[in-house]
Amino acid sequence: AMTRLRLAAVQTEPVFGEVHRNVDAALALVPDDADLVGLPELFNTGYQFRDRDELMQLAEPADGPTATRLRDHAVATGTALCAGFAERDGDTPYNSALLARPDGTTELYRKTHLFWDEKLIFEPGDLGFPVFEVCGTTMGMMICFDWIFPEAARTLALRGAKVLLHPSNLVLDLCPDAMVTRCVENRVFALTANRVGTEARKDGQSLTFSGLSQVCGPMGKVLVRMGATGEGVVSADVDLSDADRQLTPRNELWEDRRPEFYDR
Ligand code: ACM
Repeated sequence: AMTRLRLAAVQTEPVFGEVHRNVDAALALVPDDADLVGLPELFNTGYQFRDRDELMQLAEPADGPTATRLRDHAVATGTALCAGFAERDGDTPYNSALLARPDGTTELYRKTHLFWDEKLIFEPGDLGFPVFEVCGTTMGMMICFDWIFPEAARTLALRGAKVLLHPSNLVLDLCPDAMVTRCVENRVFALTANRVGTEARKDGQSLTFSGLSQVCGPMGKVLVRMGATGEGVVSADVDLSDADRQLTPRNELWEDRRPEFYDR
């Protein structure tokens, strides 16, 4: 089994609504020597939709043009990609993430915990927290604000994920350090790909995105981290055997849980 992987986080500054330009710019930053690359939440459209009509005009099916470009890039380069995009499933919009493998297959996640005005325009995700095989290991996806619910990372880890793929458009700067704890308490790696820049498309609401895209590991180390501004990419070579829940000879993390004493 493959135990070493090169994970990369791409940090971008999309231009709202310029989908083709944004996909071009993001793919240009994808390093061809990585096994798996994470891109931000809503990487193709930008974040601040004024209303559901505007969202529906830019949203795409999970096999639409943006998904096809991600898949084609993965097939052409041998690098798996995970990216957030605005999905429309018929008349229903979701804040989604796609995982595209080099063999042309894909996986889908729909953001479970919607943030702020996302609640006005998206439907909350209905898929739960699926895990899947990619690059020879088990992984799962969560999107941005899902981070503040430890149950999201926990559920993925309990289902066997060793890497949490985490496309983000963070506006608070609490998350990057909090992900260290998510990794330690679940003994996993996490790849958070965040965006930078400011959107002020709605009266009285200017959002500045906080960068600090990173890969962190089960030993509580931030392995690589971008700055708070600027586009770019950081890569980390990880050893998946570090995602080990045997903390001491007498402490296997899952075996030690006492769920009979925990509330739902
Ligand atoms: C967020 O969930 N985009 C903060």
